[in-house]
Amino acid sequence: MLGHLYPLRTYLVVAGTVERPNPMTADWVVPLSFNPPLLGVAIGKTRHTRKLIEKQKDFVIAVPTVELLKDVWVAGTVSGAKENKAEKMGVTFVPSEKVSSPSIKECQANLECRVVKEVEVGDHIFFVGEIVNVTHGDAFENGKPNTKDYKFLMHAFTGANFTCQSDEVFNP
Ligand SMILES: Cc1cc2nc3c(=O)[nH]c(=O)nc-3n(C[C@H](O)[C@H](O)[C@H](O)COP(=O)(O)O)c2cc1C
Repeated sequence: MLGHLYPLRTYLVVAGTVERPNPMTADWVVPLSFNPPLLGVAIGKTRHTRKLIEKQKDFVIAVPTVELLKDVWVAGTVSGAKENKAEKMGVTFVPSEKVSSPSIKECQANLECRVVKEVEVGDHIFFVGEIVNVTHGDAFENGKPNTKDYKFLMHAFTGANFTCQSDEVFNP
């Protein structure tokens, strides 16, 4: 049923520490409020990431471009409960400025979030995070994405099927 909402953008939710980071791929990320700046992410109850976020009360939403597709696939198919998946990835985990969860250097934005609410929604936990700091790369200027030169990753439909946005812009 939820497949009818796709394609959706794909992100990395990062928890853990710089020494032992745990990135998890997530499509179910949603903006919620400008003031205060809030976003939400739905994380399956069985995910290792859920346990980490419940403990440390913060997380980072990292914004990947298509170049990171292989890493995004690893983060979305391996559980940190079983393996140190960060070692299988080619990205660099760096300290965030305001939260304990690390950021990813190669991502075009890292939104540092502190958990303000946890809601049980069916088989997922919906974590509401206040965005307390953002760092970004050249793909963003004044908060605006450069959709000509950068391909933001999107999940086309279930499984290993990805796409990215067109650089066409329509003005109604
Ligand atoms: C493209 C893609 C999108 C995903 N989106 C979500 C999501 O929004 N929420 C979720 O709980 N799991 C999602 N998953 C599944 C988790 O990323 C996957 O189960 C992961 O291995 C969990 O890692 P962890 O156990 O280390 O937390 C997605 C997987 C892929 C490949």
